[in-house]
Formats: sequence, structure tokens, C-alpha cells
Amino acid sequence: MPSPNREEAWTLLQEYNHSEALIHHALAVEAVMRYRARKQGADEEIWGLIGLIHDLDYEQFPEVHCHKTKMILEEKGWPEEYIRAVVSHGWGLCNEVEPVTDLEKNLYALDELTGLVGAAALVRPSKSVRDLEPSSVKKKWKQKSFAAGVNREVIEKGAQMLGEDLEVLIQDVILGLRQVADRIGL
Ligand SMILES: [Fe+2]
Ligand SMILES: [Fe+2]
Repeated sequence: MPSPNREEAWTLLQEYNHSEALIHHALAVEAVMRYRARKQGADEEIWGLIGLIHDLDYEQFPEVHCHKTKMILEEKGWPEEYIRAVVSHGWGLCNEVEPVTDLEKNLYALDELTGLVGAAALVRPSKSVRDLEPSSVKKKWKQKSFAAGVNREVIEKGAQMLGEDLEVLIQDVILGLRQVADRIGL
């Protein structure tokens, strides 16, 4: 089958996800992946698509996270490298598929970081990423009790893999999120 397009991915996402929070998370990670792809001249459509669909199974099949997505996408005939990219965000958490491509390393690092940046935006008076600065995310990063569910180790490992400073990644996540701020209520 030809490569899936954004519309197909969006339809599929809505088929499996009804939680607004999860749909917002999917759109957030999509926007951040798109931003990063543009920044380095990679394929924005593919990066965005993988970001959009990465947590497809999480609402309905949290115990078999990533594994169920693999089954669904295989059944849909998605390209193997797309499926691998999606699944690798669960490396060390729900499988042993290590991120190796640039796309995979970005998804791995930015998925959790997107959560932290979003949480940091929501505690601002504006409740928005529009006036959020990397320095205030950095402060929140150090408070372990803030957004305690965000796995900072994964983000650090991801930044290391990418050979990039956390500061740069935070800035990119903020800029990516600003592009969909209205849509996701940030
Ligand atoms: Fe996930
Ligand atoms: Fe995620």
C-alpha cells in the first residue's frame, strides 16, 4: 500500500482515542516533530505522522502499550520503518526496540519533554506556551515533584543520543507547541 497520509492517521487516531487529553498529546507531539524535522531538513510529513500516531493504543490497551499499536498498524499495512519508529518510543519501558534513526531519537526525547513543557505552560498566569521561556521549564525540571510522572531520565538519555543540550530541546518544544497552541488549549 502507498504510505499512509495524515488524514488516514488522524482518522485512525480518533477511532482508538476518545480522551481529549490524549488527542491533544498526539497533536502536540506531531507539532514538535514537525518543527524538528523542518529545522534539520528532514521529511516533515513523515515525522509529523509518527508523532501523531505514536500513542495510538494507550487509551484502550495501556498494558500492552506499543505492542498493540504494532499489531494495528501491521494490519493496516503501514510500512515497517514507520511501525518501528512508533514502537521505539517505548524503548526500555515496554520493549527493547532501541531508537536508532534521527526520527526515532527525536521522538524518544521529545515525547516526555512535550509533557513537561505543557505542564509548565499550564501553571503560568496565561496558561499558555506563548509566553513560556526555556528558563522557567528548566526550573520546573529541577523540582522532582512537578509533573512527577514525566520521566526525566528518558529525556536526558534522548538528549544524549541526539547530542543536543536540554536547553535547545526545550526551546524547540516550546516553538513547536506554539504552532498548535490554540488547537490544544495551550
Ligand atoms: Fe507512549
Ligand atoms: Fe506519548
